[in-house]
Amino acid sequence: MPSAPDITAFFDEATNSVSYLVADPASGLAAVIDPVLDFDGASGRIGTGSADKLLAVAAAKGLTIAWVLETHAHADHLSAGSLIRERTGAKIGIGAGIREVQQAFAPMLAVDDLRPDDFDRRFEDGDTISVGELTIEVLMTPGHTPACVTYRVGDAAFVGDTLFMPDYGTARCDFPGGSARQLFRSLHRILALPRDTRLFTCHDYKAPGRDVFAWETTVGEQIDHNTHVGDGVEEEAYVAMREARDATLKAPKLLYPAIQVNIRGGRLPPADDQRRRYLVLPLTF
Ligand SMILES: [Fe+2]
Repeated sequence: MPSAPDITAFFDEATNSVSYLVADPASGLAAVIDPVLDFDGASGRIGTGSADKLLAVAAAKGLTIAWVLETHAHADHLSAGSLIRERTGAKIGIGAGIREVQQAFAPMLAVDDLRPDDFDRRFEDGDTISVGELTIEVLMTPGHTPACVTYRVGDAAFVGDTLFMPDYGTARCDFPGGSARQLFRSLHRILALPRDTRLFTCHDYKAPGRDVFAWETTVGEQIDHNTHVGDGVEEEAYVAMREARDATLKAPKLLYPAIQVNIRGGRLPPADDQRRRYLVLPLTF
């Protein structure tokens, strides 16, 4: 019988993001999902504290990190994928829809140095990855972005930005290539998993009446209680709600810094001949 994944969550309060260390106890191999590179937008300061902490826990458990798995190109935090690959030799994987995200954002953000190996794998629907005795299955769940995937392993699924906790709802769909209709269908793909499947979200922001951060729920809890899509909400009603709500949302604080690093797999922009690195901020009028 395959071993059950050993899951450790890391919550980054600065960006409300959750990263996961998913280990196969039998082999000591592990995958990291959605690791965070610390970044202060005001000063431009990059930090490795979050990644260091995750790697320290992995080392203390005696784990070898084989994969960094991104659920999508995040718009709210920088990925530590490239850093973790450099330090551990892990491979980086993301959904094949990343090509569409790169095509949309690279010209806008003057990213002209994309490399084929920024991602070692671009997953298609149904692809599987072995981590020791664990088999991780990739489900395409686009809508928030075209590159969004869910990683399913054992009785757990890492849903990225699709569903959040039931009392918070679902992810926005107003980025280039996003689609509320597509997200609705992806949500139902997740909700069609067995009711006791544990769902791990990529973010939490608390919610009215809840004063602690949370990131683990189940398919059953989502079906019964998700404030956007639970209790039988139908597609047209969902799409109307989602689009009306998205029209009121501001751009995420780290949108441009995050996207220009994350479409490079977490690699920072190249240094100039004086070893300076810059992020760009496109102006709109
Ligand atoms: Fe996101």
